[in-house]
Amino acid sequence: MLIKKPGDIKPSEITDESVYMRRREFMQTTAGLALLPFVKTASAKTEAALKHVKNKKFSTDEKLTDHASITSYNNFYEFGTDKTSPAKYADRLTTSPWSITIDGEVAKPGKYNLEDILKPHSLEERIYRLRCVERWSMVVPWIGFSLADLIKRFEPTSKARYVQFTTLYRPSEMPGQKRSVLEWPYVEGLRIDEAMNPLTFLAVGLYGKVMPKQNGAPIRLVVPWKYGYKSIKSIVRISFVQNEPPTSWNLSAPNEYGFFSNVNPEVDHPRWSQRKERRIGEFLRRDTQMFNGYGEQVASMYRGMDLRKYY
Ligand code: MTE
Repeated sequence: MLIKKPGDIKPSEITDESVYMRRREFMQTTAGLALLPFVKTASAKTEAALKHVKNKKFSTDEKLTDHASITSYNNFYEFGTDKTSPAKYADRLTTSPWSITIDGEVAKPGKYNLEDILKPHSLEERIYRLRCVERWSMVVPWIGFSLADLIKRFEPTSKARYVQFTTLYRPSEMPGQKRSVLEWPYVEGLRIDEAMNPLTFLAVGLYGKVMPKQNGAPIRLVVPWKYGYKSIKSIVRISFVQNEPPTSWNLSAPNEYGFFSNVNPEVDHPRWSQRKERRIGEFLRRDTQMFNGYGEQVASMYRGMDLRKYY
């Protein structure tokens, strides 16, 4: 994510990310020496294996992004704005014990231990494309369960029109929260039908193992047809609300980041086109697909909406 407002940015800075990616891919395909420290950080920890079944119906069969890239090139501003900071600093995050507060328009509110949240769910693997608003993408084998299954258990009332998600606020372990680059804690939201869509996923792992901290341990959202920033990490609160909830990037730059944030090659970001993306590990850019290629499953939710207005 870029935190500068349009007025602050010099045209020469706009290409920073793509230049970085090209340089990084060059390093990967050649000596890879400069990458070594990140690879080491990512693979040094041995996360526990998770028992799961593969869900072929909801998975893409595209080539997986390698584990080292998924766990060393991250956006997790709680650990710094640099892509390499989460892998360096997220280790200090205490993820056990962990609880999630369920509140708002719901029949069974409460503060639940993560174990109790997870107990009734069997874990499945779903291979999803993740398209970041910064024009890079990955293919990630997530492990988790459908958000709809969790929502049904807590019985939202008919007034629950939206779901709001909140990340942990703990500056002592999340050094990025000591800087006001965003309003903390990080918040995100979905309309209730989006939250109930069968694609919407709560992930607790990737590549068959417990979620690395830099990727949002112990539990994060994955909404594959929306830009990556909707996929909020390290969730501690799920609130059922009547009105559209605030979301971190919309609060930060409302003209750049809307509530819906559906991947849409037709609607440019004010500072760049969204038509193309670079799959991490590939050199040539590819065309971005409407709804990140998940139109068949999600387009009906937006029928009749002006997607330029509701970006
Ligand atoms: N969640 C929190 N709490 N803080 C963040 O900074 N970054 C978002 C999203 N979730 C972010 C977050 C962005 S911009 C992206 S692209 C994805 O996480 C990146 O997920 P990944 O690091 O697992 O690839």
